[in-house]
Amino acid sequence: MASIDDIVLAPDDRLKTECAPIEEITDDIRSLAERMLEDMYATEGCGLAAPQVGELVQLVVIDVDYTKTKKNPYVLVNPRIIVADGEERETGEGCLSFPGITVRVSRPSHVVVEARNLDGDLMRYEASDNLMAICLQHEIDHLHGITMVDHLKPLARMRKMHEFEEALAAGARPGDVEADE
Ligand code: NI
Repeated sequence: MASIDDIVLAPDDRLKTECAPIEEITDDIRSLAERMLEDMYATEGCGLAAPQVGELVQLVVIDVDYTKTKKNPYVLVNPRIIVADGEERETGEGCLSFPGITVRVSRPSHVVVEARNLDGDLMRYEASDNLMAICLQHEIDHLHGITMVDHLKPLARMRKMHEFEEALAAGARPGDVEADE
């Protein structure tokens, strides 16, 4: 059942853990991917990583351009960043595990990612200067215990975490974002 209650909120050790590679694509993995896609669409996110639903395996779902009637999901098993280059770009990012805040993160603008799909085929994704390029890096970070606030310097991170606590106390739920600063 898709529910925003499935989403693991920061701070939580599961969001700081190196996730295990998936050895075999089983029915459990397929249904996990399905549940993650449901959660992502239910919360209107553009990506979700397995640790965000409490499963410490290297699985990511992404859909950066869906509408109510048309979906374009990608499921990435054991994704790896092969290339990350191009000019650094700073953009405001949100995260379903950090409802109510936006964090400005600087990342390379061009990436090439390799991952298996659910059929076990090795796929290659290339993205440049778009939401997909950011989303790939943000979600793959999650598989290595890295969240968007970890890209901030210590003082800025402390301020953001304080802002996040206030947003949570004010009732922010997964999918809520603050307007980009
Ligand atoms: Ni995230």
